[in-house]
Amino acid sequence: RRDRTGDHYQIVQRAATAEMLPGVRTGIWAYEGRFPGPTIRSPRGRRTIVSHRNDLPVPTVVHLHGGHTPAVDDGFPTDLIPPGGRRTYTYPLRQPAATLWYHDHRMDFTGPAVWRGLAGFHLITDPDEDRLGLPAADRDLPIMITDRSFDTDGSLLYPSLDPMLHHMAGVREPYGSGVLGDVVLVNGSAWPVAPVPAVRHRLRLLNASNARRYRLALDPPPPGGGGLVQIGADNGLLGAPITHDAIEIAPAERFDVIVDFGRYRPGTQVRLINTFGDRTTTPVMRFDITHTAPDDSRIPDALAPAAPPTPPPTVTRDLRLRHDTVNGMPGWTINGIPFDPRRPALTAQLGTTEIWRISSDFHHPVHLHLASFRVLGRGLGGPGPYDSGPKDTIDLRPAEQATIRVTFTDHPGRYVFHCHNLEHEDMGMMAAFDVT
Ligand code: C2O
Ligand code: CU
Ligand code: CU
Repeated sequence: RRDRTGDHYQIVQRAATAEMLPGVRTGIWAYEGRFPGPTIRSPRGRRTIVSHRNDLPVPTVVHLHGGHTPAVDDGFPTDLIPPGGRRTYTYPLRQPAATLWYHDHRMDFTGPAVWRGLAGFHLITDPDEDRLGLPAADRDLPIMITDRSFDTDGSLLYPSLDPMLHHMAGVREPYGSGVLGDVVLVNGSAWPVAPVPAVRHRLRLLNASNARRYRLALDPPPPGGGGLVQIGADNGLLGAPITHDAIEIAPAERFDVIVDFGRYRPGTQVRLINTFGDRTTTPVMRFDITHTAPDDSRIPDALAPAAPPTPPPTVTRDLRLRHDTVNGMPGWTINGIPFDPRRPALTAQLGTTEIWRISSDFHHPVHLHLASFRVLGRGLGGPGPYDSGPKDTIDLRPAEQATIRVTFTDHPGRYVFHCHNLEHEDMGMMAAFDVT
């Protein structure tokens, strides 16, 4: 019998409509009928219990991305909530404060389910963090960035609900980029405008797109540049802030950044742009600087205390992510094998540290459930400019090898790691692992 004391939330997964494009109603499948779903805030270490009811016509699975969650509640891809069913997930959240998110994770169908709207924020807060003096309350903005395509009647356009058919019918490139939209949404709205006072704001950037990578920058940049001060990564705060002019963010990654709008004159319109984009996918959103206001926030030089030492690595593994032909069908594989939920690709010992050398043929944002990791290096060099801090997803580029150090803490059981390009994931680029 599991302990059910803690904070309780109830979520109904249902069909609804949303105004993603101005004046247009678009059908979605969403948590509480809202896209993004309700933002859940849990103090670190507070057990949080989320009951889901599935009122959708298809099975669903809920995964808390970035959570150190017991396997039974992690949302294994075959652990389904049937249509009309209910399911209660218990999250211990004994981990540092971070920007987590929850989303659907059904085997073979995660891409279309997330595309239709099954994604939301789950923030872990920390009273110790409050003492840092970072911008808070209405100056702390979760920003979920997604791209979508729309049909002429305003409905969402996904190439096919069957990833196999999609692959055969919809391939535009030899290796399939995954599904890309031509409109960028922020928190479910196309190109929104946020009026902000000329003070520091914390932007919790999440790329919840199926497959699109962004390079985010401020336009115009503030005088002197360095407009995006990174304070956190996927799984929590950095040791010290890092100043960037732009941030590259792959699917599922989170960058916690401070923007000081006090560096602009009131009346300025500051666009957040995607310099990887084309005509319609370059603009992301706009901040209109309204007025000067007092700002008692700060960015301390020291953010997170040094991470506790991890045991020295005892195992080194090589994992190859690539396009492959399996039984005559094109697919995406890890070490030549497409996802088999019953056959774990590896077994790790609870409490140990491993080195994973991950290589890729194409762009693959690789995500591990359960465990946070650190990026040790790429190719023959050190970590890249966006690899700092505690991570759960690493953006591998074409023909690249990266080395990560992962410690299996917290929970035994069966989990998955996978490419977070959701079409790659649905096409097999996922593997189970056991922690014993
Ligand atoms: Cu965000 Cu297994 O995924
Ligand atoms: Cu995850
Ligand atoms: Cu991939």
